[in-house]
Amino acid sequence: MATSDIYGLDFGTSNSAISVLTDGHARMLPIAQDAAEIIPTLLFFPDYASEVCIGERAIHEYVESGMKGRLMQSIKSFLPEVGYHGTPVGGKYGFMTIEHFVALIIEDIKKRADMLTGQDIKRVVLGRPVVFSDKPEEDAVAEKRLIKAAERAGFEEVYLQQEPIAAAFEYEQQLTKDETALIVDLGGGTSDFTVIKLGPNRFAQHDREHDILGVHGFRLGGNDFDADIMWNNGVAYFGKGATYTEMHQTMPIPNEILLTLCTWQKMSLLKEPRTKEFLRRLIKTGSDPQRMKNLNTLVNENLGYSFFQSVEAVKCALSESDEAMLLFDQSGIRVNETITKVMFEEVVKEKVMRLNEEIDHLLKQCALSPKDIDSVFTTGGTSSIPCIRNLIAHKFGAAKIKSGNTFLSVATGLALSGKQFI
Ligand SMILES: Nc1ncnc2c1ncn2[C@@H]1O[C@H](COP(=O)(O)OP(=O)(O)OP(=O)(O)O)[C@@H](O)[C@H]1O
Ligand SMILES: [Mg+2]
Repeated sequence: MATSDIYGLDFGTSNSAISVLTDGHARMLPIAQDAAEIIPTLLFFPDYASEVCIGERAIHEYVESGMKGRLMQSIKSFLPEVGYHGTPVGGKYGFMTIEHFVALIIEDIKKRADMLTGQDIKRVVLGRPVVFSDKPEEDAVAEKRLIKAAERAGFEEVYLQQEPIAAAFEYEQQLTKDETALIVDLGGGTSDFTVIKLGPNRFAQHDREHDILGVHGFRLGGNDFDADIMWNNGVAYFGKGATYTEMHQTMPIPNEILLTLCTWQKMSLLKEPRTKEFLRRLIKTGSDPQRMKNLNTLVNENLGYSFFQSVEAVKCALSESDEAMLLFDQSGIRVNETITKVMFEEVVKEKVMRLNEEIDHLLKQCALSPKDIDSVFTTGGTSSIPCIRNLIAHKFGAAKIKSGNTFLSVATGLALSGKQFI
């Protein structure tokens, strides 16, 4: 075993990946069953078996089992929720804490990586967003939980690195001259930025602290864009705009229920007996029985994740074309709706404006203006959205935008960060 080996693990809200640093070189590990380098950050607890399924295996079992079980996604987003300690999942696991959920995923990734490296590597650099939460006490809780999970998963030395700084180190490998770069990492749950000095003359230095001119981040990611599409184009199929009549009074379907549909992980809350009974009554008392049936089916058959797969697919398709179809046809729920890029951009306009403001905030914090930035390196899945790319191009000039591997730059950079810890 090369004693200097260390892993770089990007535990992402949507996707996770791991790389290894050997003799100063970072190498991504093809951990997925099909030898891909990323796995979805998902857990599935099937009703019929006591074993948990992780990553791409979770999706496979969720579909195979006819959605019979508990699928958990975006677990990273729960880390700063101080009031959320865990949840019962049944089977041999019983009540599980948030650290335990995270540990299951990290442990699985570690095992896959150890198989590929033929080692039992105990050191890891874990990524963390600049901001888990803007409340410092919540942020500290999230960080503590993440470290605890990594230790529980079998790591003995756990180091943390901010995700945009890791991405910067990966980008640095392609540079032939020194520059001041803005790194924009837009993921599934958070947006993270850094302004940093990079280049061949800086790369070899052990301590890079003085190169970091500023970091900034906030909680906005691809999941929020999905929720916007759901609210504007999806929820109508489940009762938005419909009414129901009770005690001779006609009322709109409660917003509280419709808003819950925009975060599929929360849909299971609608299975609580009183709500379930209310939803069942809507089929008789609602103004649009088909849509009321759709609502009941979506909730009772656990179709939230499947529906959001369609929502996410339309969002990604709109990164390539001017219009795309929101398509869903399962258990009697039929959705077939054209969404144009213009409509999508209108719906997410405020979020994109917020991104712009947050970038301005960082530049101000660094006492820099766009002309002082030599390059803008974009990474993370959400950075593919054209109106976001246009915003950056407009602000800094299109020629300054640089991209690498959207889904792997953070993991690679985390391993490269390992140099400062060994
Ligand atoms: N072509 C695309 N167009 C728009 N969005 C995309 C595209 N491809 C992926 N995404 C979105 O990118 C997000 C996932 O990106 P990524 O894997 O970088 O996030 P993550 O690292 O898991 O999250 P985080 O860094 O916030 O913890 C998802 O919301 C996904 O829908
Ligand atoms: Mg990420």
